[in-house]
Amino acid sequence: MRTQVCIIGGGPSGLLLSQLLHRKGIDTIVLERKTRDYVLGRIRAGILEVGFTDLMREAGVGARMDAEGFKHDGTVIAYGEEEFGVSFHEHTGTDVLVYGQTELTRDLYDAREAEGGNLVFNVENVKIHDAKGAAPYVTYQVDGGEHRIDCDYVAGCDGFHGVSRQTIPLTVRREYEKLYPFGWLGVLSETPPVHDELIYSWSERGFALCSMRNANLSRYYIQCSLSDAPQDWSDEAFWSELKRRIPSRYADALVTGPSIEKSIAPLRSFVTEPMRWGRLFLCGDAAHIVPPTGAKGLNTAASDIHYLYHGLMQFYQDGDSTGLDAYSEKALARVWKAERFSWTTTNLLHRYPDQSEFDLKMQRADIDFLRSNVAAQKVFAENYVGLPY
Ligand code: PHB
Repeated sequence: MRTQVCIIGGGPSGLLLSQLLHRKGIDTIVLERKTRDYVLGRIRAGILEVGFTDLMREAGVGARMDAEGFKHDGTVIAYGEEEFGVSFHEHTGTDVLVYGQTELTRDLYDAREAEGGNLVFNVENVKIHDAKGAAPYVTYQVDGGEHRIDCDYVAGCDGFHGVSRQTIPLTVRREYEKLYPFGWLGVLSETPPVHDELIYSWSERGFALCSMRNANLSRYYIQCSLSDAPQDWSDEAFWSELKRRIPSRYADALVTGPSIEKSIAPLRSFVTEPMRWGRLFLCGDAAHIVPPTGAKGLNTAASDIHYLYHGLMQFYQDGDSTGLDAYSEKALARVWKAERFSWTTTNLLHRYPDQSEFDLKMQRADIDFLRSNVAAQKVFAENYVGLPY
């Protein structure tokens, strides 16, 4: 088989790139290790920056998102019993959209399938060959049969554990990592959200986040120990711990119910450099991970896709490779700023096992400063809604 761009990974990044390129007459094949149902079963992010929603519309898949997504023009930050709001709209003139990753991935699959997109599921043993040469190709197996795709470029959208990043030799690749000494235990429940805005809550017992997907689907998280397993936490234990970590007026109003999903994610900051090696381009989690506190994971993948899409378009339409040549530098410049915001919000709101009394006072002073200082709120809001591409 031959295609112009071979996309490894059928998550939101790979599908979005495939759909955008298809609309410009650029041919792609998407290889996915799992099944469509498996990909759609993963409960992930829920907050979309304007840059992401613009790309979805440009890809022709924004209709359901625009009809069913919820605009959020601010968020609540709580500290013990205290709380304050940070307005996004007032400080930046824009909002974010609450629309689940599951839903937008479904929209992208539907569009790719309706438009005859070439998606191959259940692929194994994916290998990228000759990425440094003029004629790269990708080999893989399905049901034991060997396949080969020749292409101009390879987009590595296969996540943190994928083969794409590993293809870049260690003599070239540089990785930067920070592990946090805690995880997030997340619960999805068919209950109305406790509040119409998200609540990011510092508490003595650890961080908590109240989020949502729609009017009858809530997403809650609590900071947990890295040694915890989801089955250690009954629904009752989860709800009771969550209530102890948010101001009592919300705890009293919280509607609880059976969890329909419960999972634990460790928190990690990670960046690999460069994001391009020859004809291979890394996108999203294949190149970088953020802790979820700033809602930046999916959105950072979207900015990578934006730069790569424009670079590829410039190449195929005008024969000009300057956009592709600048990809790694441009993508990384924005990625590092998202890393910084995610790291600072994580530090601001979590309890650390080794925190001293002084550290706690600093955290408190940081939160007070954010509460009382308009410039600090503007900085927070600008980062939260997403820095410009
Ligand atoms: C979510 O709804 O899953 C969510 C929202 C905001 C975050 C992280 C996760 O910062």
